[in-house]
Amino acid sequence: MVGKIKGTGSYRPVQVWDNDKLSHMMETSDEWIRGRTGIGQRHIASQGETVAYMAARAAGEALRDAEVRPEEIDLILVSTMSSERIMPCAACEVQKLIGATGATCFDLNSACTGFLLALNTAQAYLGQHIYKRALVIGAEVLSNLTNWQDRSTCVLFGDGAGAVVLEAEEDAVYIQATHSIGKGGDALTCTSRNQPEFVEKGTNLSATYMQMDGKEVFKFAVSKVPEVIFEVLEKAGKTKEEIRFYMLHQANQRIVSSVAKHMKEPLEKYPMNIERLGNTSSASIPLLLDEWKKRGKLNPGDWIVLSGFGGGLTYGASLMRW
Ligand code: ACO
Repeated sequence: MVGKIKGTGSYRPVQVWDNDKLSHMMETSDEWIRGRTGIGQRHIASQGETVAYMAARAAGEALRDAEVRPEEIDLILVSTMSSERIMPCAACEVQKLIGATGATCFDLNSACTGFLLALNTAQAYLGQHIYKRALVIGAEVLSNLTNWQDRSTCVLFGDGAGAVVLEAEEDAVYIQATHSIGKGGDALTCTSRNQPEFVEKGTNLSATYMQMDGKEVFKFAVSKVPEVIFEVLEKAGKTKEEIRFYMLHQANQRIVSSVAKHMKEPLEKYPMNIERLGNTSSASIPLLLDEWKKRGKLNPGDWIVLSGFGGGLTYGASLMRW
Protein backbone atom coordinates (compact mmCIF):
# COMPACT_ATOMS: atom_id res chain seq x y z
CA MET A 1 0.00 0.00 0.00
CA VAL A 2 1.24 3.48 -0.93
CA GLY A 3 -0.31 6.89 -1.52
CA LYS A 4 -1.88 8.26 -4.67
CA ILE A 5 -2.06 11.99 -5.41
CA LYS A 6 -5.74 12.91 -5.08
CA GLY A 7 -5.47 16.68 -5.40
CA THR A 8 -3.01 19.50 -6.06
CA GLY A 9 -2.88 23.20 -5.25
CA SER A 10 -0.58 26.18 -5.49
CA TYR A 11 -0.01 29.76 -4.40
CA ARG A 12 1.96 32.40 -6.28
CA PRO A 13 2.69 35.75 -4.57
CA VAL A 14 0.83 38.69 -6.10
CA GLN A 15 3.93 40.75 -6.88
CA VAL A 16 5.79 39.86 -10.11
CA TRP A 17 9.29 41.09 -10.93
CA ASP A 18 10.32 40.68 -14.57
CA ASN A 19 13.89 40.78 -15.84
CA ASP A 20 13.55 44.41 -16.92
CA LYS A 21 12.79 45.38 -13.31
CA LEU A 22 15.97 43.62 -12.18
CA SER A 23 17.96 45.39 -14.91
CA HIS A 24 16.97 48.70 -13.25
CA MET A 25 18.16 47.42 -9.87
CA MET A 26 21.55 46.02 -10.98
CA GLU A 27 23.80 45.54 -13.98
CA THR A 28 22.00 42.73 -15.79
CA SER A 29 19.69 42.28 -18.75
CA ASP A 30 16.69 40.25 -19.91
CA GLU A 31 18.92 38.80 -22.63
CA TRP A 32 21.56 37.54 -20.14
CA ILE A 33 19.03 36.06 -17.71
CA ARG A 34 16.86 34.38 -20.38
CA GLY A 35 19.86 33.11 -22.31
CA ARG A 36 21.57 31.50 -19.29
CA THR A 37 18.55 30.33 -17.32
CA GLY A 38 15.30 30.56 -19.31
CA ILE A 39 13.80 32.80 -16.59
CA GLY A 40 11.65 35.77 -17.68
CA GLN A 41 10.00 36.73 -14.38
CA ARG A 42 9.53 35.57 -10.79
CA HIS A 43 6.90 36.12 -8.07
CA ILE A 44 8.18 37.91 -4.96
CA ALA A 45 6.38 37.64 -1.61
CA SER A 46 5.13 40.80 0.07
CA GLN A 47 4.61 41.30 3.79
CA GLY A 48 2.11 38.70 5.02
CA GLU A 49 2.90 36.25 2.23
CA THR A 50 4.93 34.07 4.57
CA VAL A 51 5.99 30.45 4.02
CA ALA A 52 3.14 29.27 6.30
CA TYR A 53 0.54 31.54 4.69
CA MET A 54 1.45 30.45 1.14
CA ALA A 55 1.67 26.80 2.21
CA ALA A 56 -1.81 27.02 3.76
CA ARG A 57 -3.27 28.64 0.62
CA ALA A 58 -1.77 25.90 -1.58
CA ALA A 59 -2.96 23.23 0.89
CA GLY A 60 -6.52 24.62 0.92
CA GLU A 61 -6.65 24.42 -2.87
CA ALA A 62 -5.26 20.86 -2.87
CA LEU A 63 -7.88 19.77 -0.31
CA ARG A 64 -10.71 21.23 -2.39
CA ASP A 65 -9.31 19.54 -5.51
CA ALA A 66 -9.13 16.19 -3.68
CA GLU A 67 -12.55 16.70 -2.06
CA VAL A 68 -10.99 15.92 1.32
CA ARG A 69 -11.89 17.82 4.51
CA PRO A 70 -9.04 19.27 6.64
CA GLU A 71 -10.08 17.07 9.59
CA GLU A 72 -9.47 13.98 7.44
CA ILE A 73 -5.75 14.76 7.11
CA ASP A 74 -3.46 12.66 9.36
CA LEU A 75 -0.08 14.16 8.44
CA ILE A 76 1.15 17.56 7.23
CA LEU A 77 4.71 17.84 5.95
CA VAL A 78 6.15 21.16 4.81
CA SER A 79 9.39 21.16 2.90
CA THR A 80 11.10 24.55 3.27
CA MET A 81 14.46 26.15 3.91
CA SER A 82 13.15 29.71 4.15
CA SER A 83 10.55 29.74 6.90
CA GLU A 84 10.45 33.06 8.77
CA ARG A 85 9.88 31.23 12.06
CA ILE A 86 12.11 28.50 13.45
CA MET A 87 9.39 27.57 15.92
CA PRO A 88 6.57 26.64 15.59
CA CYS A 89 7.25 24.72 12.41
CA ALA A 90 5.44 25.87 9.27
CA ALA A 91 3.45 22.60 9.15
CA CYS A 92 1.90 23.39 12.58
CA GLU A 93 1.06 26.90 11.37
CA VAL A 94 -0.61 25.38 8.30
CA GLN A 95 -2.57 23.05 10.57
CA LYS A 96 -3.84 26.06 12.53
CA LEU A 97 -4.72 28.03 9.38
CA ILE A 98 -6.64 25.25 7.63
CA GLY A 99 -8.13 23.56 10.71
CA ALA A 100 -6.57 20.12 10.17
CA THR A 101 -6.95 19.35 13.87
CA GLY A 102 -6.18 15.62 13.65
CA ALA A 103 -2.87 15.93 11.80
CA THR A 104 0.67 15.31 13.01
CA CYS A 105 2.85 18.09 11.61
CA PHE A 106 6.52 18.68 10.95
CA ASP A 107 8.89 20.43 8.55
CA LEU A 108 11.70 18.97 6.53
CA ASN A 109 14.63 20.77 4.88
CA SER A 110 16.65 19.33 2.07
CA ALA A 111 16.84 22.42 -0.16
CA CYS A 112 15.57 21.85 -3.71
CA THR A 113 15.20 18.06 -3.19
CA GLY A 114 13.03 18.69 -0.12
CA PHE A 115 9.61 18.18 -1.70
CA LEU A 116 10.63 14.82 -3.15
CA LEU A 117 12.01 13.69 0.23
CA ALA A 118 8.85 14.92 2.00
CA LEU A 119 6.77 12.90 -0.48
CA ASN A 120 8.94 9.84 0.19
CA THR A 121 8.53 10.35 3.95
CA ALA A 122 4.74 10.59 3.65
CA GLN A 123 4.73 7.47 1.44
CA ALA A 124 6.68 5.58 4.12
CA TYR A 125 4.03 6.45 6.75
CA LEU A 126 1.20 5.48 4.40
CA GLY A 127 3.00 2.31 3.35
CA GLN A 128 3.29 1.25 7.00
CA HIS A 129 -0.47 1.87 7.51
CA ILE A 130 0.39 4.50 10.14
CA TYR A 131 -1.59 7.23 8.35
CA LYS A 132 -4.15 7.23 5.56
CA ARG A 133 -4.06 10.80 4.22
CA ALA A 134 -1.21 13.29 4.05
CA LEU A 135 -0.72 16.84 2.85
CA VAL A 136 2.75 17.33 1.39
CA ILE A 137 3.74 20.92 0.71
CA GLY A 138 6.78 22.70 -0.74
CA ALA A 139 6.85 26.40 0.19
CA GLU A 140 9.63 28.99 -0.10
CA VAL A 141 10.16 32.70 0.41
CA LEU A 142 13.61 32.61 -1.16
CA SER A 143 13.60 36.39 -1.60
CA ASN A 144 14.42 36.56 2.16
CA LEU A 145 17.57 34.48 1.56
CA THR A 146 18.59 36.26 -1.63
CA ASN A 147 21.47 38.69 -1.72
CA TRP A 148 20.08 41.43 -3.94
CA GLN A 149 23.64 42.80 -4.33
CA ASP A 150 24.80 39.56 -5.98
CA ARG A 151 23.60 39.48 -9.57
CA SER A 152 25.01 36.00 -10.15
CA THR A 153 22.43 34.46 -7.77
CA CYS A 154 19.56 36.90 -7.18
CA VAL A 155 18.22 36.71 -10.74
CA LEU A 156 17.59 32.97 -10.37
CA PHE A 157 15.10 32.63 -7.52
CA GLY A 158 11.39 33.17 -6.90
CA ASP A 159 8.78 32.60 -4.17
CA GLY A 160 5.75 30.30 -4.12
CA ALA A 161 4.11 27.17 -2.74
CA GLY A 162 2.66 23.94 -4.09
CA ALA A 163 0.80 21.14 -2.30
CA VAL A 164 -0.51 17.64 -2.91
CA VAL A 165 -3.01 15.48 -1.02
CA LEU A 166 -1.86 11.90 -0.80
CA GLU A 167 -4.25 9.06 0.04
CA ALA A 168 -3.35 5.42 0.70
CA GLU A 169 -4.65 3.07 -1.99
CA GLU A 170 -4.18 -0.64 -2.64
CA ASP A 171 -3.31 -0.29 -6.33
CA ALA A 172 -1.19 2.88 -6.14
CA VAL A 173 2.41 2.64 -7.40
CA TYR A 174 5.33 4.68 -6.04
CA ILE A 175 8.98 3.76 -6.44
CA GLN A 176 11.85 5.98 -5.35
CA ALA A 177 15.63 6.35 -5.45
CA THR A 178 17.58 9.00 -3.55
CA HIS A 179 21.20 9.90 -2.81
CA SER A 180 23.27 12.52 -0.99
CA ILE A 181 26.82 13.75 -1.54
CA GLY A 182 27.71 15.65 1.63
CA LYS A 183 31.29 16.22 0.53
CA GLY A 184 29.98 18.39 -2.35
CA GLY A 185 27.92 20.59 -0.02
CA ASP A 186 30.05 23.72 -0.37
CA ALA A 187 28.71 24.24 -3.90
CA LEU A 188 25.43 25.61 -2.48
CA THR A 189 25.35 27.23 0.95
CA CYS A 190 23.37 29.57 3.20
CA THR A 191 24.44 30.13 6.83
CA SER A 192 21.93 30.88 9.58
CA ARG A 193 21.88 34.49 10.78
CA ASN A 194 21.48 33.08 14.26
CA GLN A 195 25.27 32.90 14.81
CA PRO A 196 27.38 35.12 17.11
CA GLU A 197 29.56 36.31 14.22
CA PHE A 198 26.53 37.58 12.29
CA VAL A 199 24.68 39.03 15.25
CA GLU A 200 27.53 41.50 15.84
CA LYS A 201 27.14 44.79 14.05
CA GLY A 202 29.14 45.52 10.94
CA THR A 203 29.65 41.88 10.02
CA ASN A 204 29.60 40.94 6.36
CA LEU A 205 26.29 39.16 5.97
CA SER A 206 26.91 37.69 2.52
CA ALA A 207 27.30 34.15 3.93
CA THR A 208 23.77 34.40 5.35
CA TYR A 209 22.36 34.57 1.84
CA MET A 210 22.32 31.81 -0.76
CA GLN A 211 25.74 31.34 -2.30
CA MET A 212 26.51 29.02 -5.14
CA ASP A 213 29.21 27.69 -7.41
CA GLY A 214 27.01 27.77 -10.52
CA LYS A 215 29.29 25.70 -12.71
CA GLU A 216 29.69 22.92 -10.10
CA VAL A 217 25.93 22.79 -9.54
CA PHE A 218 25.35 22.58 -13.28
CA LYS A 219 27.82 19.70 -13.67
CA PHE A 220 26.35 17.86 -10.66
CA ALA A 221 22.77 18.20 -11.95
CA VAL A 222 23.33 17.15 -15.54
CA SER A 223 25.31 14.05 -14.56
CA LYS A 224 23.36 12.82 -11.51
CA VAL A 225 19.76 13.48 -12.57
CA PRO A 226 19.79 11.15 -15.63
CA GLU A 227 21.64 8.56 -13.52
CA VAL A 228 19.00 8.51 -10.77
CA ILE A 229 16.14 8.53 -13.28
CA PHE A 230 17.58 5.45 -14.98
CA GLU A 231 18.01 3.89 -11.53
CA VAL A 232 14.34 4.34 -10.64
CA LEU A 233 13.21 3.13 -14.09
CA GLU A 234 15.26 -0.03 -13.63
CA LYS A 235 13.86 -0.59 -10.12
CA ALA A 236 10.34 -0.26 -11.52
CA GLY A 237 11.03 -2.41 -14.60
CA LYS A 238 9.94 0.45 -16.87
CA THR A 239 11.51 1.83 -20.04
CA LYS A 240 12.07 5.55 -20.58
CA GLU A 241 9.60 5.48 -23.49
CA GLU A 242 6.77 4.42 -21.14
CA ILE A 243 7.07 7.66 -19.15
CA ARG A 244 4.58 10.38 -20.10
CA PHE A 245 6.30 13.24 -18.24
CA TYR A 246 9.59 13.85 -16.46
CA MET A 247 8.86 16.61 -13.94
CA LEU A 248 12.21 18.02 -12.87
CA HIS A 249 13.03 20.64 -10.26
CA GLN A 250 12.97 23.92 -12.16
CA ALA A 251 16.51 25.19 -11.48
CA ASN A 252 17.48 26.21 -14.95
CA GLN A 253 16.09 25.60 -18.45
CA ARG A 254 19.53 24.56 -19.67
CA ILE A 255 19.75 21.86 -16.97
CA VAL A 256 16.36 20.42 -17.97
CA SER A 257 17.26 20.50 -21.69
CA SER A 258 20.59 18.88 -21.01
CA VAL A 259 18.95 16.06 -18.97
CA ALA A 260 16.48 15.45 -21.84
CA LYS A 261 19.42 15.27 -24.26
CA HIS A 262 21.38 12.88 -21.99
CA MET A 263 18.32 10.65 -21.75
CA LYS A 264 17.66 10.86 -25.50
CA GLU A 265 14.03 11.72 -24.81
CA PRO A 266 12.02 14.55 -26.48
CA LEU A 267 11.98 17.88 -24.62
CA GLU A 268 8.12 17.89 -24.79
CA LYS A 269 8.19 15.19 -22.10
CA TYR A 270 9.91 17.65 -19.70
CA PRO A 271 7.32 20.24 -18.58
CA MET A 272 8.78 23.63 -17.68
CA ASN A 273 7.38 26.77 -16.05
CA ILE A 274 10.67 28.38 -15.00
CA GLU A 275 10.11 31.19 -17.52
CA ARG A 276 7.23 32.50 -15.36
CA LEU A 277 8.25 31.39 -11.84
CA GLY A 278 12.06 31.25 -11.63
CA ASN A 279 13.67 28.70 -9.32
CA THR A 280 11.36 28.20 -6.31
CA SER A 281 13.47 25.43 -4.72
CA SER A 282 11.27 22.87 -2.93
CA ALA A 283 8.07 24.46 -4.27
CA SER A 284 8.98 23.91 -7.92
CA ILE A 285 7.86 20.28 -8.38
CA PRO A 286 4.41 20.64 -6.75
CA LEU A 287 3.88 23.95 -8.59
CA LEU A 288 4.62 22.17 -11.87
CA LEU A 289 2.38 19.20 -11.00
CA ASP A 290 -0.48 21.53 -10.13
CA GLU A 291 -0.10 23.52 -13.34
CA TRP A 292 -0.02 20.42 -15.53
CA LYS A 293 -3.03 18.95 -13.70
CA LYS A 294 -5.02 22.18 -14.11
CA ARG A 295 -4.14 22.23 -17.80
CA GLY A 296 -5.63 18.74 -18.13
CA LYS A 297 -2.38 17.19 -19.28
CA LEU A 298 -2.24 14.40 -16.70
CA ASN A 299 -4.46 11.39 -17.40
CA PRO A 300 -5.26 8.47 -15.09
CA GLY A 301 -2.74 5.69 -15.67
CA ASP A 302 0.05 8.00 -16.94
CA TRP A 303 3.51 7.10 -15.69
CA ILE A 304 5.25 10.17 -14.24
CA VAL A 305 8.80 10.62 -12.98
CA LEU A 306 9.58 13.42 -10.50
CA SER A 307 13.21 14.41 -9.94
CA GLY A 308 14.68 16.83 -7.42
CA PHE A 309 18.29 17.94 -6.95
CA GLY A 310 20.09 20.66 -5.04
CA GLY A 311 21.85 21.79 -1.88
CA GLY A 312 23.46 19.16 0.30
CA LEU A 313 24.18 17.95 -2.28
CA THR A 314 21.04 15.80 -2.59
CA TYR A 315 19.14 14.27 -5.48
CA GLY A 316 16.50 11.70 -6.24
CA ALA A 317 13.76 10.47 -8.54
CA SER A 318 10.34 8.96 -7.91
CA LEU A 319 8.12 7.09 -10.32
CA MET A 320 4.34 7.01 -9.90
CA ARG A 321 1.19 6.10 -11.76
CA TRP A 322 -1.17 9.08 -12.03
N1 ACO B 1 23.74 39.55 -15.50
C1 ACO B 1 24.73 39.84 -16.31
N2 ACO B 1 25.96 39.27 -16.18
C2 ACO B 1 26.15 38.39 -15.19
C3 ACO B 1 25.11 38.04 -14.29
C4 ACO B 1 23.87 38.67 -14.46
N3 ACO B 1 22.80 38.41 -13.67
N4 ACO B 1 25.60 37.14 -13.41
C5 ACO B 1 26.88 36.90 -13.73
N5 ACO B 1 27.21 37.66 -14.81
C6 ACO B 1 28.48 37.72 -15.51
C7 ACO B 1 29.65 37.27 -14.64
O1 ACO B 1 30.11 38.35 -13.86
C8 ACO B 1 30.65 36.85 -15.68
O2 ACO B 1 31.26 37.99 -16.22
P1 ACO B 1 32.82 37.96 -16.64
O3 ACO B 1 32.91 36.91 -17.72
O4 ACO B 1 33.07 39.34 -17.10
O5 ACO B 1 33.55 37.57 -15.40
C9 ACO B 1 29.76 36.25 -16.78
O6 ACO B 1 28.44 36.77 -16.58
C10 ACO B 1 29.70 34.74 -16.74
O7 ACO B 1 29.45 34.35 -15.40
P2 ACO B 1 29.36 32.85 -14.98
O8 ACO B 1 29.08 32.72 -13.52
O9 ACO B 1 30.56 32.14 -15.54
O10 ACO B 1 28.08 32.43 -15.78
P3 ACO B 1 27.65 31.00 -16.22
O11 ACO B 1 27.71 30.89 -17.66
O12 ACO B 1 28.24 29.91 -15.39
O13 ACO B 1 26.09 31.06 -15.82
C11 ACO B 1 24.62 30.24 -14.16
C12 ACO B 1 25.71 31.23 -14.48
C13 ACO B 1 23.39 30.58 -14.99
C14 ACO B 1 24.24 30.34 -12.69
C15 ACO B 1 25.15 28.83 -14.51
O14 ACO B 1 26.34 28.56 -13.85
C16 ACO B 1 24.18 27.77 -14.21
O15 ACO B 1 23.25 27.56 -14.95
N6 ACO B 1 24.41 27.03 -13.10
C17 ACO B 1 23.50 26.04 -12.65
C18 ACO B 1 23.15 26.33 -11.28
C19 ACO B 1 21.75 26.74 -11.08
O16 ACO B 1 20.93 26.83 -11.95
N7 ACO B 1 21.47 26.96 -9.83
C20 ACO B 1 20.20 27.27 -9.41
C21 ACO B 1 20.14 27.18 -7.95
S1 ACO B 1 20.61 25.69 -7.31
C22 ACO B 1 19.43 24.57 -7.53
O17 ACO B 1 18.31 24.88 -7.68
C23 ACO B 1 19.82 23.17 -7.55
